[in-house]
Amino acid sequence: MSADAQRAEGERRPIWWMQRESGGCSASRQLGYDPAPFAREELPRIMAIERTLSILKPDATERPGATGEILRRFEAAGLRIIALKKIRLSDEIARGFYAVHKARPFYGDLVKFMTSGPVVVSVLEGENAVRAHRDLLGPTNSSEAPKGTIRGDFGTDIERNAAHGSDATATAKIEISYFFGAAEILAPVEAL
Ligand code: CMP
Repeated sequence: MSADAQRAEGERRPIWWMQRESGGCSASRQLGYDPAPFAREELPRIMAIERTLSILKPDATERPGATGEILRRFEAAGLRIIALKKIRLSDEIARGFYAVHKARPFYGDLVKFMTSGPVVVSVLEGENAVRAHRDLLGPTNSSEAPKGTIRGDFGTDIERNAAHGSDATATAKIEISYFFGAAEILAPVEAL
């Protein structure tokens, strides 16, 4: 393999690969070095490893093949799925999730749409995950989203826009805990 190809291969490798490699060093094991704290605390800091919440909305989950294709795109972009479930939101859960929009005129319709069918909720982890995920989604309004983006390919308009993604790491933390308990999320150390 050429030097360029080796470098490209290295850049393509996801975080779990690096964690596995750091944990797989027998010399460090023999020395009694525990790589877990490094993988858990230092690597994310050095590499800006973030977590974000993704919701595939009812218009996406009802389309045959769309759920698999969208999750494939997340993984192909280096985002690791560390929690995943398919659920039907209750009126109360949908209202609570979008409470920040409750004064907006579209709130009622948004809640009605989000409870109209199953959603696929996941936690994605990776370098700059919030931005990376939103770039894959494209603009909020599907009618303005370019082809090749998830909202452009699977959504219709600003309400039926196929997917939701957290807009910042602080929001992601709140949104993730809204849907997942700690025991449902794979910790980085589990990749070792
Ligand atoms: P989402 O990323 O789930 O966050 C809030 C949602 O509100 C957004 O995607 C849109 O689906 C919806 N939304 C935002 N603005 C409008 C609007 N003007 N009319 C209808 N729905 C909207």
